[in-house]
Amino acid sequence: MNIISVKDYQEMSKKASEIVVKTVKELEKPVLGLATGSTPEGLYQCLIENNKDKQVSFQNVTTFNLDEYVGLAANDPNSYRYFMDEKLFNHIDISKENTFVPNGVAAKLEEECASYEELIRSHGSIDLQILGIGLNGHIGFNEPGTPFTSRTHIVELDESTRSANARFFASMDEVPTQAITTGIETIMESKKIVLLVSGENKADAIARLVNGEVSEDFPASILQKHQDVTIIADEAALSKL
Ligand code: GLP
Repeated sequence: MNIISVKDYQEMSKKASEIVVKTVKELEKPVLGLATGSTPEGLYQCLIENNKDKQVSFQNVTTFNLDEYVGLAANDPNSYRYFMDEKLFNHIDISKENTFVPNGVAAKLEEECASYEELIRSHGSIDLQILGIGLNGHIGFNEPGTPFTSRTHIVELDESTRSANARFFASMDEVPTQAITTGIETIMESKKIVLLVSGENKADAIARLVNGEVSEDFPASILQKHQDVTIIADEAALSKL
């Protein structure tokens, strides 16, 4: 694993945007895997600026998001589709029909998982996957105990994950209990992975990811086995390494 240490959140976001821009420029039809959460917001802001400055175009880019809450429709401000539209897609020159997020209100959720997986496969594979990390080591919404062989599936969210994400909702009761997430194997098939980590509250997680044993108890630990992972982390996040 390649670890890039940066000063702060701003620098992490800028560094990540440089890697995304390079990938988009190099490939004819780039496929990006995108994440939600507070961590990648700065990266998306940088990409919007890079697009405005005409440093990069997203016209040939396809994106697949990692996950979506079950029960939240695209027009729900807490859905990840809404987040992506607001934070990135509405502000760049990407074709909306080339942006994919699992449908959390599909009538048949199992079928939605299978077809999302199939859709990724029909595009070859993800060229560059952006990841954040949950405090309990989750990637996407793959909670501790998820098999490393998992593909896109429905998960029951950990109480710790629900309370970590409750800050976006009016009350804890409104935080969904389930989500659709691409699986760990789906994520591991990405050609390149960039994991973003910022802040002291992530310091234990990043230390365990880098130095801990590879175990399904801590999903992100599987990244030790991927051949092209770059972690971009700020000083606070790296304080326990
Ligand atoms: C959510 C998302 C993850 C994200 C994690 C960390 O649970 N499903 O993809 O990495 O939260 O979020 P944050 O970046 O806000 O700390």
